[in-house]
Order: sequence, then structure tokens, then C-alpha cells
Amino acid sequence: MEDIRGTIKSELATGDLRAYIAGNAGSPHPYLETIRIDCLKHKWNFMLTTPDQAAFLYAHAKMINAQKILEIGTYFGHSTLALAAALPNSGRLISLEHNPKFVATAKGHMEAAGFSEQVEIRVGEAPLLLPMLELEHAADSFDLIFVDADKRHFHDYWEASLRLVRKGGVIIFDNALARGEILNEAPDAPDHIAAVRAFNNFVKSDPRVFSYIATLADGMLTAIKL
Ligand SMILES: C[S@@+](CC[C@H](N)C(=O)[O-])C[C@H]1O[C@@H](n2cnc3c(N)ncnc32)[C@H](O)[C@@H]1O
Repeated sequence: MEDIRGTIKSELATGDLRAYIAGNAGSPHPYLETIRIDCLKHKWNFMLTTPDQAAFLYAHAKMINAQKILEIGTYFGHSTLALAAALPNSGRLISLEHNPKFVATAKGHMEAAGFSEQVEIRVGEAPLLLPMLELEHAADSFDLIFVDADKRHFHDYWEASLRLVRKGGVIIFDNALARGEILNEAPDAPDHIAAVRAFNNFVKSDPRVFSYIATLADGMLTAIKL
């Protein structure tokens, strides 16, 4: 079977170095590899988080003793499981996904990994689900939020995340380097590149957080709410 560890999405390290980094990442849960292999068959498997990203997410959740996590963008449930594995038994994770097929796949994986009680996957458009979530959950009640979905709603996701996450909590946005194209300011560059650049600039100057771009995979914008 093809070894895809770390071969997806990483723009910063290539070839042997990429495999080395992936091979040196601790695995938050043994079932992650099953999800990874299942995802191989899917045409959009480049969307899957890498092993070092899974380790990064798990480590941040563990470091802050996360009890309650929100994720936007479930796909096959790879990052979902990496984050859920860091929770104590009483901890909960809610993940939002608009593609019903991905929801069914991810739910199956959570069940097989033994996390169906702790992980709730909601189907729908995240911009519509978030206001409902904010009615159900108090402000400042989440410990960690991971956003890995459509870039055009990044500002909305950012503001909702800042309302939902507690002080000292962590907000992580994936793809901060726009697949290595973040510096491309050519007039014919795809629109989403300028959008991600504007978003990164906005976060950098946001006094409500301390933030930096962690240089793994495609760049993970990581912020601590002050
Ligand atoms: C990059 S993938 C997520 C990868 C996943 N975090 C992982 O570890 O493999 C992005 C996901 O966000 C979903 N998505 C995109 N736009 C969305 C929206 N507006 N609302 C909900 N889900 C959305 C896509 O269907 C896709 O499954």
C-alpha cells in the first residue's frame, strides 16, 4: 500500500524531508491511519490534514487541557479524531460540515474509533450553523477552535471563534500560506490568495489575540485569545 504520510498539502518541506517530519510526528490515535488510508481513494485527498498537523492539533488541545472543542470542516474526520483524542472522557467536540457524504463517512470513523459519544458532527453550512451554536453555547465556553473550511467566510469564522473561545483558548486556521502562493500578488492570481493575505494581516493586527503562523504543512495560523 502506498505510504501517503505527509505527502499531502505540505508546501514547506519536500521529498525525504517531508517524509522524515511526518515519520517523526507522534500519533494521537492509532485509528488515524485507517482514516488516512480510507481517504486515499477520494479525489480531494489533498484536503486531508498531514500527520504533523494531527500531532500539532492534539498537542495544542492537550497543552491547554481542552474540554470543549469546535471544528469547522470535518471532511473524513482526520483532524476531528486527532483533536478528540486529546479530550478527557467528559470532553466534547462539535464539528461542522456541509457535505452529507463526508458527514456520514466521518461519523462512521468516529464510531469505529470509539468516539461517537464525544464527537457530534453537524451537517450544514457553517455560516448558518454558527449562530445556532452561539445560542446553545455560552460565550467564552470553548477551549480550542480549528477552522479548515471555505476561505471566503474566514472573517465570519474568526469573529464567531473569538466570541466562543475562552481567554487563553486557542484558535487555529489552516492554509495560511495559500498552498505556498501567499506572496503571489499578480493581477491574475486567484482571488482566494488575496483574501487569505488580507485575513492574515487582519489577525496580525488584532489586539484581542497573540498570533503567529506555524510553519507546518500549508501554514497554520495559530492564535491565543488574550
Ligand atoms: C480541507 S477540508 C477539511 C479537512 C479536515 N479538517 C481534515 O483533517 O482532513 C474542508 C472541509 O470543509 C467543508 N466545508 C467547506 N465549506 C464549508 C461550509 N461553508 N460549511 C461547512 N463545511 C464546509 C468541505 O466540505 C470539506 O470537507
